Amino acid sequence: MPMVVIEDLVSLRRCLAPWRRSGRSIALVPTMGNLHAGHLALVREARGVADHTLVSIFVNPLQFGPSEDFGSYPRTLAQDRASLAAEGADLLFAPPVRTVYPHGYREQTRVEVPGLSDILCGASRPGHFVGVATVVCKLLNMAQPDVVIFGEKDFQQLLVIRRMVEDLCLPVEVRGLATVREPDGLAMSSRNGYLSPAERARAPALYRALCRAGDGLRAGLTAGEVESEGAKALADDGLGPDYFRVCRASDLQAVTTGDRELVVLAAAYLGKARLIDNLRVSLTPYNPVATVEKVD
Ligand code: PAJ
Repeated sequence: MPMVVIEDLVSLRRCLAPWRRSGRSIALVPTMGNLHAGHLALVREARGVADHTLVSIFVNPLQFGPSEDFGSYPRTLAQDRASLAAEGADLLFAPPVRTVYPHGYREQTRVEVPGLSDILCGASRPGHFVGVATVVCKLLNMAQPDVVIFGEKDFQQLLVIRRMVEDLCLPVEVRGLATVREPDGLAMSSRNGYLSPAERARAPALYRALCRAGDGLRAGLTAGEVESEGAKALADDGLGPDYFRVCRASDLQAVTTGDRELVVLAAAYLGKARLIDNLRVSLTPYNPVATVEKVD
């Protein structure tokens, strides 16, 4: 069946209604377009878990700060459309801003996940996760999918969405998928296109620092030791560290004695790009437990 492309809400609902009536399941993959292999892995997962795959492309003004890259964010709809058709998506929903925010995005009712939205990327990008939660909530209400799929690349975003879905009792299953990387380890991202060749050559330092942090935690270093080493390693490699943090994976809180499911999260500036990445670290019960204060 050829992929359908829809820009308005009435047509979206008209297209989805018979699928839902006949009991077929729907998976939604929300994106901002400029699709790469990471996005397409989510589409593949969607095809595996549901009968129909819906992908949204919407560069959401509400999640960009006033001095951020909303205006210059890469918009490559024709190319994205071809990639999605080749990947076997059933429906592409690519609404204009006025469809998502008919009263203007500044007047839009908002969804806030407090706490989780205010740390890490939320501290550097005030309002960002309110914009993300609001648009994802709207997309979920528009499409009412059975499953919605996100990448672990944006780990904090995934937790914000999980919390929103739980808090608002939204009837949808949230799935997270492992980060897809370039051969040199750099996490795929639409913003990698902002890097000059020299910056691109330096960019894998981010993932290298995360891997070193994981090794350090498994070897018994404290979270604090790993964090200061990581930030220093990024600066030594010519990146401008924004944060380098070890957190509890379940809620991004500070690590305490006994926590074994951790995540190391980092953000760094490189030229015009702000790169983010993270690494999950599971400590076995036999490993020294990572703590904020080192225990002997
Ligand atoms: P965008 O950056 O386009 O990402 C869309 C989805 O692709 C997100 O779930 C993101 O985590 C996932 N993704 C990006 N790079 C990935 C990679 N290398 N490997 C695996 N998955 C990857 O995230 C957004 O858009 C927006 O905030 C959105 C959720 C669409 C709300 O506007």
